[in-house]
Amino acid sequence: MAPLTLALPFLFLPALVLSVDPIHVPLTKRASHKKLDLNKEALRLRTKYGFGEAAATASRRATVGRRGSSAGIPVTNQDDDSSYFGTVTIGTPAQTFNVILDTGSSDLWVAGTSCTSCTRQTPLFQSTQSSTFQTGQTTVGSTTGNPVLGQTIKITYGSGAVEGTLSQDTVSMGGFTVSNQQFLDVAAVSTGLLDGSVSGIMGLAFSAIASTGATPFWQTLIANNQLSSPEMSFWLTRSSSTNTQDVAGGVFTLGGTNASLFSGTVEFLDMPATTPTFWLLTMSSVTVNGSPVTISTGDAALSAIDTGTTLIGGPSADVAAIKTAVGGTDSPSSQGFFNFPCSTNLEISLSFGGQLWPINTADMNIGTEPNDANACIAAIFDLDLGTSIQGGNSGNPNWVVGDTFLKNVYSVFRSSPASVGFAQLSTVAGGTGTPSGSADSSSTSGTSTSTGAGSTSSGSVSSGASRVGPALALLGGAVAALAMLCA
Ligand SMILES: *[C@@H]1O[C@H](CO)[C@@H](O)[C@H](O)[C@H]1NC(C)=O
Repeated sequence: MAPLTLALPFLFLPALVLSVDPIHVPLTKRASHKKLDLNKEALRLRTKYGFGEAAATASRRATVGRRGSSAGIPVTNQDDDSSYFGTVTIGTPAQTFNVILDTGSSDLWVAGTSCTSCTRQTPLFQSTQSSTFQTGQTTVGSTTGNPVLGQTIKITYGSGAVEGTLSQDTVSMGGFTVSNQQFLDVAAVSTGLLDGSVSGIMGLAFSAIASTGATPFWQTLIANNQLSSPEMSFWLTRSSSTNTQDVAGGVFTLGGTNASLFSGTVEFLDMPATTPTFWLLTMSSVTVNGSPVTISTGDAALSAIDTGTTLIGGPSADVAAIKTAVGGTDSPSSQGFFNFPCSTNLEISLSFGGQLWPINTADMNIGTEPNDANACIAAIFDLDLGTSIQGGNSGNPNWVVGDTFLKNVYSVFRSSPASVGFAQLSTVAGGTGTPSGSADSSSTSGTSTSTGAGSTSSGSVSSGASRVGPALALLGGAVAALAMLCA
């Protein structure tokens, strides 16, 4: 239990966070079956969320701009749905970088010119070329024990680490600017952490888990009243090609929703009433090919909704129950994973207290076993494996719900009231435009829905309204057009 108990206070006292950080590590998907190292990647993910190895001792978890508006930021889908990145600029004059958009962590970092372990292809931040760059000149936060500018911060996790200097500069994304954004100017990156043109990570979760102690970019925008609504929304694509590094990845809307990308209503689900850390919901049901699977409930089903994670990790017992329902077999090649006959169309659906959302069968299949072309590995794995933690409590997520799920919905991360919402993808966004799930029989209390531009919510819409027919979908489109005209 040590890692967990050590970690918890840090969630609420970021000043005490040692050197951690949640880091996104892309899991290789279909593209490179030959190179699949699911064991390693699962370990990294476990560590990201503080699931320390049983033997580990040190694991823990650790202005100026436009006003009242929102922006649609193009997203790129990297390595066949492994990760999704957007573009940020840092410095004066602006230097442009691609960063993973990660709702599962809260720090911003980019590789800098001092990075010796970075590959040649990684674009590096040149601090000496920025007239607004600052580091090591102030004692911001020192009275509270927060990291100070100039301080070296090491972010450690399972099989790698990032280390850099706490710095400050002008940061912009989607036309929004924060003039004094703290971030890590990274000097060392583990092999394999960054791929292609990506230089870092933009953490989109809450400040309580920022190991830099910095207020995340998006939270500053809200504090400065720059966003028309306290929302961040994602449409994430499913790549239709394989072995392609970069394809169009969807749209990240900062400050609202893009109503042309979803139909019907956004069903918002309240987050647990604690200091926000990760974007958390409680998983309420899982079905396999239409049949419910018995899973842990309540506090044992806390789920981080994480755009920066490729797959879905869950508690041992629950993943085992899903494996049994599937008729799956433990993967001989990848610890914690199971496989199933490739001829099976595996449809798994998830609910977090509201509608049941089906995951496309294509997303559940992440490739064949190295030694058995008829056995396909499923995208859900045992997050607890090899750790001393059995089930979470006190805010630690039990599940990490990544892109395998998020590709199937339009997702909205709303900080006030703290909630995560899902909606049916519109046909524009590659969805059917009509709901294919059914309302969960468990509770729908604590949910609210919103329509149109999504900046307002209405508690008067019943849960039944989440089943939207084509007529309503068309109406949604009309509202969207209107909203865009008015914007
Ligand atoms: C909303 O998404 C559509 C489809 O991708 C896009 O064409 C449009 O520009 C987006 N609107 C805004 C305001 O970003």
